[in-house]
Amino acid sequence: MTRTPVNVTVTGAAGQIGYALLFRIASGHLLGADVPVKLRLLEIPQGLKAAAGTAMELDDCAFPLLSGIEITDDPNVAFDGANVALLVGARPRTKGMERGDLLAANGGIFKPQGKAINDHAADDIKVLVVGNPANTNALIARSAAPDVPAERFTAMTRLDHNRAISQLAAKTGSAVSDIKRLTIWGNHSATQYPDIFHAEIAGKNAAETVNDEVWLADTFIPTVAKRGAAIIEARGASSAASAANAAIDHVHTWVNGTAAGDWTSMGIPSDGSYGVPEGLISSFPVTTKDGAYEIVQGLEINDFSRARIDASVKELAEERDAVRELGLI
Ligand code: NAD
Ligand code: LMR
Repeated sequence: MTRTPVNVTVTGAAGQIGYALLFRIASGHLLGADVPVKLRLLEIPQGLKAAAGTAMELDDCAFPLLSGIEITDDPNVAFDGANVALLVGARPRTKGMERGDLLAANGGIFKPQGKAINDHAADDIKVLVVGNPANTNALIARSAAPDVPAERFTAMTRLDHNRAISQLAAKTGSAVSDIKRLTIWGNHSATQYPDIFHAEIAGKNAAETVNDEVWLADTFIPTVAKRGAAIIEARGASSAASAANAAIDHVHTWVNGTAAGDWTSMGIPSDGSYGVPEGLISSFPVTTKDGAYEIVQGLEINDFSRARIDASVKELAEERDAVRELGLI
């Protein structure tokens, strides 16, 4: 039986993440090896020509699952009937630029896109915001889409999650596949808190296995939290292939489910769990099943973790207040 293609909209399609992302979506990594996709590429007018070039390359791959590509600079066209929307297009942070500077620059992009999603997307729309500041951009888009269930707007902290797994595996000499139940809490920023107190390495508690609070506080947490800045410093541009990979992971897990006994990290609208004010788009440990996610409940939060979660959530509340003042939510 031929399946109906899933409409996947990618904004910022001509950018560096777009280039690393589109080929993997078209080859079946986003949704599954048996799911045909139709791509809609949204760009600003200056990006349309480059997006058309990428579309030519996509054609040249003759991907069996790719059933069409449309390129537009009109959000109302791009999100028409969209089932999955990857909001990547934004202004990347460049050397020396603070994330706060990005709020005003990028906020304006996400309000009209949220409205277009509200007015035109399919009923089952799932939105992942990658463009920074991702959590607050997701909040802006969500606020402009009152008819879409709030939980469909998510922000990407999967890259942080993957980075934390990789650092923990290197420290302990274990395989990344042995690491489960790691959590990123809070904002996709330098205040984020990668939490290993509930994580497991080959079934054993990760914090007990590491048994080194100095490494945790002074090496692990800052390395993960500042990895984005370190990559900008090294490459002269923000992470692209690893960000695209994390976007693929985020949506694939959301749609296809977490493995038994494991969870992932997603930036999602808070329901008030773990003391995070309702409505803030903050990263939590979540399990996913049948295209829906649930926050993992009942985790004991020690003082070390509490202070760090609170600090990141405080930053999110400040970003929310700033965009409220700008009239963006
Ligand atoms: P890039 O500059 O290479 O590409 C951005 C693209 O977006 C450009 O082609 C630009 O023309 C387009 N664009 C700008 N405004 C647009 C709009 N209103 N509609 C549609 N397209 C628009 O940047 P990049 O390296 O691809 O990064 C994109 C974003 O992702 C940045 O904000 C970056 O900071 C962020 N990022 C997030 C994470 C994460 O973990 N959440 C990781 C890496 C990068
Ligand atoms: C990353 O984590 O690599 C990016 O979010 C960094 C950035 O600010 O673009």
